[in-house]
Amino acid sequence: PEQNPGAAAPQAGQEDLILLKRIGAVDPESLDDYRAHGGYTALRRAFAIGPTAVIKEITDAGLVGRGGAAFPTGRKWQATAEQPDHPHYLVCNADESEPGTFKDRVLMEGDPYALIESMTIAGYATGAHHGYLYLRGEYPRALARLQHAIDQAHLRGLLGDDVLGQGYAFDIEIRRGAGAYICGEETALFNSIEGYRGEPRSKPPFPVEKGLFGKPTAANNVETLVNVLPILNLGAEAYAAIGTARSTGPKLFCVSGNVHRPGVYELPFGATLRDLLELAGPPERMRAVLLGGAAGGFVRPDELDIPLTFEGTREAGTTLGSGVVLVLDDTVPLPRILLRIAEFFRDESCGQCVPCRVGTVRQEEALHRIADRTGAAAASDIALLREVGAAMRDASICGLGQTAWNAVESAVDRLGAYE
Ligand code: NAI
Ligand code: SF4
Repeated sequence: PEQNPGAAAPQAGQEDLILLKRIGAVDPESLDDYRAHGGYTALRRAFAIGPTAVIKEITDAGLVGRGGAAFPTGRKWQATAEQPDHPHYLVCNADESEPGTFKDRVLMEGDPYALIESMTIAGYATGAHHGYLYLRGEYPRALARLQHAIDQAHLRGLLGDDVLGQGYAFDIEIRRGAGAYICGEETALFNSIEGYRGEPRSKPPFPVEKGLFGKPTAANNVETLVNVLPILNLGAEAYAAIGTARSTGPKLFCVSGNVHRPGVYELPFGATLRDLLELAGPPERMRAVLLGGAAGGFVRPDELDIPLTFEGTREAGTTLGSGVVLVLDDTVPLPRILLRIAEFFRDESCGQCVPCRVGTVRQEEALHRIADRTGAAAASDIALLREVGAAMRDASICGLGQTAWNAVESAVDRLGAYE
């Protein structure tokens, strides 16, 4: 089958891959081929054990969200399932707009039925009969393949009024984003689906209680949902044995920048950054690695033994986020990169709250002044950046403003970017 042209190459050919195992091996446009590669066994098991037991499996497996925030999926599903208000909705967040993140694209283009099957299981477990798949607008190939998969699943009784003859009704509607980073924030995403401006809502109430159309909603990232299949196929215990005690299962990493083999890599949680970079071919003279994307933080070449787990990166003062691993060698002008990140946040701020709307502009201005002095910072610029950064972190409504200073701060404090 045709391989994700234009996308960074996914890791392939290893027998122990779990999430990427079908990528490149299965025809993404053939339901029969998906079934021949183990498709729809997890949904059958879900129907056999019932929704409560499905949620227990997900909880016991220790699955946490792969969009970046690592919230326990079982807790989210349980909280949605038990809401008395109806209808319940399932939303798949496929907006994937964090710079340097391209794992969900690989999953959706290469194994679309896996997402359709996992969404059906998630809908069944949480009591939803309607799922929305909010897809990044710049992913036309994923759109075509997912829509084809949805249509085929309908024709073959795997979506619709009576899924697999089990009396459960579920359908999936794709909605396309229009290029706004903020629409990946779950409540801005709901507004976008509802036809309003993509502006985040204050939380709480959390979406499990009041989400899409004000109704109980489980919103999950693509990679999170796709992990449901190995959990049901292997069983919670076997799944939880992969990775570490607090970060279980396999994880996809998006490696880009100055490496010899950029791409999507699958490793069990707990592998080190050094292990990952060995696979991707590190540069000879590494300057830094940006973990977690624009909202993440830099680590130095002497910190490559950081374990790639949520807890390990947190303890090291950075974040795993959505799995971004952007490698910079010593030819890269760091001040330009930081300025680019600041421009990005200024552009993408929705403007709804003052700390972020004004703070992202002030941050960019200060970095411009520094760049104009070819990277040398005045002490007053650094002091201003810290003050503005603290105000954005403390007082912004959503994660965009709260994290807009993370990368710059870590470059100042960990890399001595402007010394
Ligand atoms: P968050 O921590 O506010 O929430 C995470 C999830 O847990 C949400 O679904 C939220 O509704 C749920 N939740 C939190 N507390 C809850 C409670 N008490 N009861 C029920 N549900 C609860 O984080 P947020 O703002 O949703 O996401 C931030 C993350 O997104 C960052 O880590 C960042 O790395 C990542 N991100 C990922 C992008 C991508 O393209 N994948 C783009 C931009 C950011
Ligand atoms: Fe909008 Fe920024 Fe406020 Fe988030 S923090 S609501 S993006 S202005």
